[in-house]
Amino acid sequence: MEKLENRFYIRTYGCQMNKYDSDIVKTLFLREDFEDVSTPEEADYILLNTCAVREHAEKRVIGRLNSLKGLKKRRPEIIVGVLGCMAKELPDLINHPVVDFLAPPDSYRNLVQWLKARKRGLIPEDKNEQYSNIFISTNKISNYLSITRGCNYFCSYCIVPYTRGSIRSRPPDEILKETENLVNSGTREITLLGQNINAYYYKGVDFPGILKRVSKIKGVKRLNFLTSHPKDIPDNLFPVMAGHKNITNYLHLPLQSGSDRILSRMNRDYTIQNYISIINRARKMMPNLTLTTDILVGFPGEKEEDFIETLQAVRKIRFDQSYMFAYSERKGTLAALFNDKVEEKIKKERLQRLIKVQNKVTEEKTRALKGSEMEILIVGEAKKGGKLGKSRNGRIIITNGVAKIGSVYIVNINKVNGWVPIGKIKKEV
Ligand code: SAH
Ligand code: SF4
Ligand code: F3S
Repeated sequence: MEKLENRFYIRTYGCQMNKYDSDIVKTLFLREDFEDVSTPEEADYILLNTCAVREHAEKRVIGRLNSLKGLKKRRPEIIVGVLGCMAKELPDLINHPVVDFLAPPDSYRNLVQWLKARKRGLIPEDKNEQYSNIFISTNKISNYLSITRGCNYFCSYCIVPYTRGSIRSRPPDEILKETENLVNSGTREITLLGQNINAYYYKGVDFPGILKRVSKIKGVKRLNFLTSHPKDIPDNLFPVMAGHKNITNYLHLPLQSGSDRILSRMNRDYTIQNYISIINRARKMMPNLTLTTDILVGFPGEKEEDFIETLQAVRKIRFDQSYMFAYSERKGTLAALFNDKVEEKIKKERLQRLIKVQNKVTEEKTRALKGSEMEILIVGEAKKGGKLGKSRNGRIIITNGVAKIGSVYIVNINKVNGWVPIGKIKKEV
């Protein structure tokens, strides 16, 4: 039998929070002299950081696990672990033929020691875990930084409060120290994360308070945050966004539905009118605001009239982009008990109709950028050549390959390729 060495491969599914958590796990492994490899074939430890938000996400992971059967047969000594939300939600996964251990979201601190001790099975969680004093190390120019963990809102369709536990806010000092560390290692763009980031609160410091403090750290050229919940947008949030040059004028505000009846059954705690007045306030303070949203169709009890209200909301609010999903039943949530389910066929058909309406808006709004001038921070290489830039309102712009990563340029948007605006460099700033 071959010897087990210290090479690990990690693959991340799901949301930004999971990406951040993978950076924590990587940091912990690298500290213990493990080596990061880019394919499962080279690895001794294969880690899949998983998502349970919809059935489709789970199916992808199960498919991936099944595809590892051959590798595990050839090299039975390799260790395969399921991390993240599925590890919490589906404990029976431990019986899958390739799975050696399960590590739910609040168990990572002990992961390496656990594996070194050759222990297997379900790694216990600490429900108060904040991953204090870890301080992720990355060499990326854009990084996520989680400022809260968990969620207490219990929207009736959502599994997240069950997989990630109650909300915990990290102390401001920790957040500022992690920001400084990241900036010192080359980060120029930071995205603060929380399932409901506006619920952040630590000993008198609220979300606008911490946002302001992070924005003051020298070297942070772009500061974004995800995700906001319409029921807790503080009055001083938009003035803080508008008043600090490096905070992007970008808001991701999930609407979920345009029907008040459905919003109430979803336990969202706002009406479409509340939502629209928030947006009006935001746009008044930030005329160039980029607004994106999440919309869910086919929630139990959604009638054609409710769905039409969602389409009307999309036409009226004119989101720059929407992440659109068909409702997927999650066992253990309140909505799973509702018996007025919408047929699969109707869900799919509504999703297609919604995508069509949103795509038209996205196209019109992207085309309208033509001729405008933008200040962009170069954050990476574009897949099909050129460089990727990020504007001050959070838009992705492609520009000439000569642009240097980490530098800021003024560009003229002279073309739109599909949905991607192309900027011609005017000058470096
Ligand atoms: N905390 C964030 C995001 C949670 S998950 C928020 O409150 O908005 C991201 C998105 O997935 C949600 O906004 C919702 O649109 C979608 N989603 C959540 N549960 C779902 C389910 N059971 N079926 C389909 N989509 C779901
Ligand atoms: Fe899920 Fe709602 Fe919490 Fe978002 S606010 S994570 S949708 S329960
Ligand atoms: Fe994120 Fe998916 Fe978990 S969306 S919180 S990884 S269920």
